Amino acid sequence: MTITTPQQTALPRSGDPDTDWAARSMPLLARTMNEFGPAFAGLHLGICLHLEPKTAVLCQWLLAYGATVTITGNLGTTDPRTAELLAAQGAHVIGGRDDDEQAHARNLDAVVERRPDLILDNGGELIERLTEGAVRSFGFLGATEETTTGGTRVRGLRNQPDFPVIVINDSPLKLLVENEYGVGQSIVQGFMNATNRMLPALRAVVIGFGPCGKGVADTLRALGARVTVIERDPFRALEAIMSGHRVESIIEALPQAEAVFLSTGRPGVLSLEDLRLLPDGAIIAGVGHQPDEADIAGLAANATETVNLASSTDADARIAYRLDSGKEIIVLHGTKMVNLTAAKGNPIEAMDLGLSLQAASLGAIALGRAAFVGVESVPEEINQMLATGLVEILR
Ligand SMILES: NC(=O)c1ccc[n+]([C@@H]2O[C@H](COP(=O)([O-])OP(=O)(O)OC[C@H]3O[C@@H](n4cnc5c(N)ncnc54)[C@H](O)[C@@H]3O)[C@@H](O)[C@H]2O)c1
Repeated sequence: MTITTPQQTALPRSGDPDTDWAARSMPLLARTMNEFGPAFAGLHLGICLHLEPKTAVLCQWLLAYGATVTITGNLGTTDPRTAELLAAQGAHVIGGRDDDEQAHARNLDAVVERRPDLILDNGGELIERLTEGAVRSFGFLGATEETTTGGTRVRGLRNQPDFPVIVINDSPLKLLVENEYGVGQSIVQGFMNATNRMLPALRAVVIGFGPCGKGVADTLRALGARVTVIERDPFRALEAIMSGHRVESIIEALPQAEAVFLSTGRPGVLSLEDLRLLPDGAIIAGVGHQPDEADIAGLAANATETVNLASSTDADARIAYRLDSGKEIIVLHGTKMVNLTAAKGNPIEAMDLGLSLQAASLGAIALGRAAFVGVESVPEEINQMLATGLVEILR
């Protein structure tokens, strides 16, 4: 598979400065959509993805090639201006930034109820609904899943999909460019925006040394922080040591931690007792997909005082929980992904690649080139095509 000469080199300007700015730096997506765009004409795509300007660029391409788009954001990460823009351009936009978990579940139901032909999922919850008997369009074609957490969820579903699902996160390209370098930069940027704290000399603890945790730990250290990693997999712990980080247990690391980054993508990693180990003033930030890695509900229930330290309108931007020991623990955005809540999400180039993987994989399904049933990785020919394109663009 090769990328041929573009048929349509650029999107018309949307009028939204952030979306137009993103579109300027997404040449790989432009090339990919010019290759696969015609496959989407007349199809209805149901999407759950962070509703922010880079996602808007993908949706604009889909609309430009004659697709119908129904989209909802992930929990707490919807940018209201982007939602307005896409609605004005003809997408069916469901839900908003302040939705709670129940409202988010209703939004996902509403996407599926509109019976799309293709699903682009981020978290596996749309796909789960389809495997549990949600009514599908007559010609339902298949789905893609974006992230680590969603890939794990989809592979663990009781009823395995009887349609093709391509897990974008399996692509070694995505793990390198987005999870490691993109998330590394943008999480640190979100932490800096939310706290205005200085990184040199900061004692940072990163829990989980997968591609995302590695990116965060390496970026923090490059900017002068003193980084300790907590990692249960001995191979990844070794990788952290070889990368120059301290590796310690929860009991050793937390009492020294000034900032904690949750990057495991697993629920219940830090219990209330673990959180009590933190020193006064420690700050907790989320990296992983769900805000459930630390027992913040337990912290809140056991706090003698809860103080909202936020200056913005985001109610949960900075909450200090005072414990009976007198220590205060500060939680950023309820541990939702801080690169989306306090920064502009992943860097544009990282999402240029990630959304190109999405467009090419969905295009392959639409064209009948992903002739399988069940959950598989991104086809190797797509990885090769996009790696070649990205090297041409970036070198
Ligand atoms: N914020 C973003 O923009 C963004 C982007 C991509 C992925 N993500 C999410 O970030 C999370 C991490 O992604 P990844 O690709 O690095 O995942 P991964 O599964 O490859 O890595 C997670 C690491 O955490 C370790 N771990 C799990 N439980 C642990 C525990 N109790 N103690 C110590 N270590 C533990 C695992 O051994 C693993 O090495 C996922 O939830 C993913 O969906 C976020």
